[in-house]
Amino acid sequence: MQKRLIAFTAMAALTAFGVLAQDAEDPFADVVETRHGLMLQMASDLGTLGGMAKGEVAYDQASASKAAANVAAVASVLSMAQFPAGSEVEKAADSFALPDIWAKQDDFLAKITDLNNAASAMQTAAATDVDALKASMAQLGGACSACHKAYRQPES
Ligand code: HEC
Repeated sequence: MQKRLIAFTAMAALTAFGVLAQDAEDPFADVVETRHGLMLQMASDLGTLGGMAKGEVAYDQASASKAAANVAAVASVLSMAQFPAGSEVEKAADSFALPDIWAKQDDFLAKITDLNNAASAMQTAAATDVDALKASMAQLGGACSACHKAYRQPES
């Protein structure tokens, strides 16, 4: 019994070491994966709202409100915490983050604020009707693309 416990503990220690060793190779792997996940979640919810705005999907107050609430929730999570210095394109694997994020950090943070404001406006609009939702799309989509234009390397 005790032998098994020791063996188990040794294995757990090895596993933990393995994770640490991997992190040492690419210290930004987790943070890049996290921010990609947050961005992809927003893209999915924006897609739901966009589908209704274009009339491809029937407007549904509950799912529109849910999608808008999700974007607002993710937007509220965004900060420099997901963008540690050095996690930029060509320095961190899979990163398309441009170095200007750190050179112009105040502007980058202002674009996060713009996104939060647009998401908040969309929450009201999505709960109102499809015309309000349509009218709010430009501000919300614009907040995404304004930041991407300045701070995300386009995939070639
Ligand atoms: C404040 C800046 C900023 C805002 C606002 C922003 N993004 Fe991003 N986004 C980025 C950056 C920087 C990257 C590149 C991150 C990387 O590759 O590590 C990115 C990447 C992405 C990606 C690619 C993810 C991947 O797996 O490669 C998607 C999709 C995306 N954003 C969607 C959105 C949507 C939708 C919105 C608006 C609802 C939005 N983003 C708002 C900065 C922003």
